[in-house]
Amino acid sequence: MSFTDWILLGVGAFAILGALGAFTIAFRRSRSDQPEPTAGTSSETLKADRSMEGVRVEPIAVAASSSSDEEVGVSDETPELDPEPEPVGAGVAVVETQRVVEVTPEESGVSRRQFFNRAITVTFGSFLALFGLNSLAFFWPKLTGGFGSDVDAGAVGDLLSQTVTAAGTTVPVFIPEARAYVVPAPQELSEQYEGRDVAAGGLMALFQRCVHLGCRVPWCGTSVGFECPCHGSKYNYVGEYFDGPAPRNLDRFVVEIRSGDRFVIRTGSIIETPRAPEPSVNYPQGPSCIG
Ligand code: FES
Repeated sequence: MSFTDWILLGVGAFAILGALGAFTIAFRRSRSDQPEPTAGTSSETLKADRSMEGVRVEPIAVAASSSSDEEVGVSDETPELDPEPEPVGAGVAVVETQRVVEVTPEESGVSRRQFFNRAITVTFGSFLALFGLNSLAFFWPKLTGGFGSDVDAGAVGDLLSQTVTAAGTTVPVFIPEARAYVVPAPQELSEQYEGRDVAAGGLMALFQRCVHLGCRVPWCGTSVGFECPCHGSKYNYVGEYFDGPAPRNLDRFVVEIRSGDRFVIRTGSIIETPRAPEPSVNYPQGPSCIG
């Protein structure tokens, strides 16, 4: 993969991490919206409470005079009044007036504010996650066929015969699936290619993309080289830099022979080399196509 692809993969991964972070923050927030029932309670009180475990506490009955309507606590529940309160003393009746009922967070449900907070967070997080996954899917190297995978360009014998015309001049074979030109490899490879597996079976595979700003570099039959129409970079037929603003040779792929005679281009492995100090083949061999 190229450097740009790695950058875009990083953006996708960053978006996924961002979505995970948003979900985590939302989850913690929603928990912090529900205060701990024991918050602010001293350790002595908590200890005393634990010692009361298993003890049943009956609702408090409040003594009220016939003229009193004092309220204890606040509740939405309608008090159940004893139709015939039992007399406790002269003119005094015991009634259960109002009951303060504590509800758990589960019973109280989700507030409107919590609902909108969570809805916004989930929507935003889902968008980021989908964006990240789509980016990864788009730029992830293909493992089966296509650019980014290993491409079978054909039989070595066929390719060798196609790369030399009847007149004995060189002409590349373009492999669209690999975005590569297959060209004959020079008899003696320049030192900068040593140990880099850029030639096999007498053939090399050049990336079609200009290393200056990325234009597709066409073949020029008269000069027997590659000439970029965008800004005038020129390369000989094995992709070595000759002229123009290009900073290095054309990039090339790692290649190998499989199944005896199949020329395979590993488009996931791109080899970059600096401008060749001594070109392996002559250029130009005739008039230029771009002047
Ligand atoms: Fe090829 Fe600029 S893109 S010379």
